[in-house]
Amino acid sequence: MAKTVGIGVTGGIAAYKIADLVSRLKKEDIDVIVIMTEAATKFITPLTFKTLSDREVLVDLWDDSKEWKVQHVGAAEQLDLLVIAPATANFIAKVAHGLADDLLSTIVLANTAPLLLVPAMNSNMYKNQAVQDNIKKLKDYGYMVMEPNSGVLACGVTGQGRLPEIDQIYAEIKRLLFPKQDLLGKRVMVNAGTTCEDIDPVRFIANRSTGKMGFSIAQDAQTRGADVILVCGNSPLEPPLGVEFVPVWGAEEMCEVMQKYQPACDIIIGAAAVGDFRIKTRAEQKMKKTGNASEELVLTLVGTPDILKTLGKNKKPKQIMVGFAAETENILENAKKKLDSKNLDFIVANDVTMEGAGFSSDTNIVTFISRNGEIESLPKMSKQDVAAAILDKVVKLL
Ligand code: C5P
Repeated sequence: MAKTVGIGVTGGIAAYKIADLVSRLKKEDIDVIVIMTEAATKFITPLTFKTLSDREVLVDLWDDSKEWKVQHVGAAEQLDLLVIAPATANFIAKVAHGLADDLLSTIVLANTAPLLLVPAMNSNMYKNQAVQDNIKKLKDYGYMVMEPNSGVLACGVTGQGRLPEIDQIYAEIKRLLFPKQDLLGKRVMVNAGTTCEDIDPVRFIANRSTGKMGFSIAQDAQTRGADVILVCGNSPLEPPLGVEFVPVWGAEEMCEVMQKYQPACDIIIGAAAVGDFRIKTRAEQKMKKTGNASEELVLTLVGTPDILKTLGKNKKPKQIMVGFAAETENILENAKKKLDSKNLDFIVANDVTMEGAGFSSDTNIVTFISRNGEIESLPKMSKQDVAAAILDKVVKLL
């Protein structure tokens, strides 16, 4: 059955570029319902979109629709995907706060299909903390938000805020509308987040990992049809829908849990930032200071198990194992050593000192190093795209 995608156009200068997107989707026999805000009609006319999409363009909440009894509910029910492009700061704020004061924002609330937002605005507006907080909120709700490109903006300044290329938006829409099912029937275990090692009942040692990379892999594997177990240390993120979520605390617990699941898994991906040391003796009671400002405290640390190494020793025939190597120097050399010592099929190396790579960032810059010595460097990508590239490589190995 033909897919239907809603394209919500809001009032930014990049609105004119969306005509090309609608035209390309129509050529692929994808049904397109264009919904415009009042402000968007100041930049491009509904007639343009009506001609390209070959159907009425929806603008007014109060229009008497010929097609649906209740316009915003009827239109929302028909969608396989809703895309807001360009998404202005104002519209992002409305979605983040659940406002429904025009047709498009009302459809967003009534919509149950995946929602993709494509922000485009002046770079200072994009960097503004309120906008960033709203974008974070949208991501926490499980909506997908594309990263704007950097370059010269319509207002004349250079910075981040450009609408991504239509090619990029089109590829993302195609990926969401027609997800690959190349991991159907496979069981994938991913670990993510930071492990935590207790000092006393209230304090612990952890690291800066948020779990974004591992969550993106788990989510993508699930979309591709796999049964996914996500073994997760501390992370502020919401567990992805449809994934078996196993929360753990320390490295030893993570290792035990993963060993238990290992025999049933076809693919194991270690994206967690596992602590290498734990406190030798955890204090039973909260440790007290003496009040002396020059006081020193010495904690004795002992090593934790290397989880992938442990699993690597018990690797089943045909089981695929992938690890990460977050490095600050001699990246390839260090990563290769880890590939061998952990018995991995390939390792994903990244230089965590580079801007746009590593912990907390929404993007990553990685190099794949395979057992046969093959090295493949990828450009800066969103963590979702890195996840997709990792799983594409896994599929080739299956
Ligand atoms: O040795 P290093 O910590 O740099 O290796 C990184 C890779 O090994 C990651 O995939 C990480 O999840 C995994 N690892 C592990 N157990 C540890 C330390 C790291 O599985 N104790």
